[in-house]
Amino acid sequence: MDNEAAIKRIEELRSLINYHNRRYYQLDDPEISDIQYDQLMQELTELEQAYPDLVTPDSPTRRVGAAPLEKFEQFRHDTPMLSLANAFSEADIRDFDGRIKRLLGRTESIRFVVEPKLDGVAVNLVYGRGVFTAGSTRGDGAVGEDVTQNLRTIQTLPLMVVSGEGIPTVIPERMEIRGEVYIEREAFKGLNRRRLENGEPPFANPRNAAAGSLRQLDSRITAKRPLNIFCYAVGQIRGRSFQSQLEVLDTLKHWGFPVNSHVRAALNIDDCIAYHHQMDALRATLPYEIDGIVIKVDDMALQEELGAVSRSPRWAIACKFAATQETTTIEKIEVQVGRTGVLTPVAILKPVRVGGVIVSRATLHSQGEIDNKDIRERDTVIIQRAGDVIPEVVKVIESKRDGTEIKFVMPSHCRECGSEVVRLDGEAAHRCIGLACPAQIRERIRHFASRGAMDIEGLGEKLVAQLVETALIQDPADIYDLTADRLAGLERMAEKSAANLMAAIERSKRPAVEKLIFALGIRHVGERMARILAKEFKSLEKLETAAMDDLLNIRDIGPEVAASITTFFREPANLNVIKKLQLAGVKPPETEDAPLSESAISGKSFVFTGTLLQMTRNQARERVESLGGVWSESVTKKTDYVVAGEAAGSKLPKAQATGITILDEQDFLKLIGES
Ligand code: IVH
Repeated sequence: MDNEAAIKRIEELRSLINYHNRRYYQLDDPEISDIQYDQLMQELTELEQAYPDLVTPDSPTRRVGAAPLEKFEQFRHDTPMLSLANAFSEADIRDFDGRIKRLLGRTESIRFVVEPKLDGVAVNLVYGRGVFTAGSTRGDGAVGEDVTQNLRTIQTLPLMVVSGEGIPTVIPERMEIRGEVYIEREAFKGLNRRRLENGEPPFANPRNAAAGSLRQLDSRITAKRPLNIFCYAVGQIRGRSFQSQLEVLDTLKHWGFPVNSHVRAALNIDDCIAYHHQMDALRATLPYEIDGIVIKVDDMALQEELGAVSRSPRWAIACKFAATQETTTIEKIEVQVGRTGVLTPVAILKPVRVGGVIVSRATLHSQGEIDNKDIRERDTVIIQRAGDVIPEVVKVIESKRDGTEIKFVMPSHCRECGSEVVRLDGEAAHRCIGLACPAQIRERIRHFASRGAMDIEGLGEKLVAQLVETALIQDPADIYDLTADRLAGLERMAEKSAANLMAAIERSKRPAVEKLIFALGIRHVGERMARILAKEFKSLEKLETAAMDDLLNIRDIGPEVAASITTFFREPANLNVIKKLQLAGVKPPETEDAPLSESAISGKSFVFTGTLLQMTRNQARERVESLGGVWSESVTKKTDYVVAGEAAGSKLPKAQATGITILDEQDFLKLIGES
């Protein structure tokens, strides 16, 4: 191979490997086998050995684990890693503001930056001339452990700092960057699933999993863990100073460090308190765990003036959310049958208040999970709502046992339909194999009618159970055969509610294609996947006839999802339901006549900053994307519009500086025709 061919192949391999890394580590949805991946890596390694001049510090070969260490070396930080004082109430937050004003002798409002408090492991990263040279844990604040090899394996950690688009920035000689290593909730679940399958004990929570992975002596093991990082501060930086925390965050982003997208500027302490409430509400929807917010004085000169006491700066404070762990007892363990027949053991708890919500049930996931945590009926347990909607049992308090606890065994036959229960090879779950199992039927219908699917208001759990029990409906399509008369025959069904339900059913006949696809309950097709499929195929009919290859050609679809979709559309019972839906007049509105490209914002790129008053960020994003616009997190040359809400962050001045069109919320609504 000549030099030119080697350059070309090396570049090709690097981009392929980076792509598959993303599939594996970030999306938890690999497209190629481990062996195929190893082959790509092997080829790149050999080429780099043969052409050492072509090795770059950011090559994916630099991320794979190195030989195991005996122990971690100590690592002294250039500047100490401080910790934060805590505020537990609104009064504490106001005290913090009052204290700062007093110390600075000021009466006017202090500008702050507010950030999510990420629940992970703090690290210090050292870059020499822009190249990642060392990284360590916090340790006692002055000296930590050298975990450089492990940090290298984090796919989103820049191995080489480059200046991004826009304003050129000088890369300092040597700099310390501070951040938090974490694992996303979904990736954590996947990791634990694999551990259970391999007979290894699961991690208690994403933070423990992140800490355990970062403190692995064998970095080849760390390389297989779905670690991620957000950066939020700088330590010592030679040859560069910053005016404000916002400038720090902006520069970090500009240099290619992952910076959390929920950081905001706050004009005064009231803004900070409002942000605390907002983030508490948003918490459950975030893909990673946060345990509070951090409030920081924005102005670096003021930070310096305020200084630190003992080990915490006076210019920042952590405000935790209400505790989400609680102790209670398991009254009994029930088994729930899902729409695909999977049996999920559920703990029925003595009700307790956790993080402001009364909890009386917690999922136990599977027999394997129960065995691993040795959970028994009547046990005293610690439960948590880890920001997640579904509460979980963290662990059993064994010292509370008195010998009356009862071990749980999965039943051999389904309690609902009497069919056999099987555990398929390679699956953690037990399944009821009864096709006519009423529990499965109920769940399929409930899913079909649910908010994210056909959104039939009033068709809740109890009513669905009644309708299935009285044989009024057997499958989702039967919903459209219901009449007010038939409903009137049901217990506790008033005339008015029957009429309301009939109206809701009628309204559901014109669903968006993605809602209809999601409603069918195809395995592995969640809301995100349904959107992707709708965008590609435009109609259910086209999706129905899609071949395996058509599906595999789509960027985000792997073999497992593709197989699940084709299997679904081969099943006569499923085709029958679809046919019945069509006959009942369920049909998404035609989109062909009004292609997305004709919307006013189609193809335009949007960046949102600050708080919107009339909708959440997610809703804004849905609106932008459904009209063919592009949602983006940061302002670049390609940005068409910046929509600035209340207390807009650093994106606003950046947009102003580059002359991008800035809209307020009303302008945005007008633009999308909603004002
Ligand atoms: S700033 C001097 N920002 O909280 C301030 N810390 O108790 C240094 N943390 O050790 C930290 N999210 O592990 C900062 N947005 C954030 C953070 C954050 C989480 C952690 C960090 C630190 C601890 C402080």
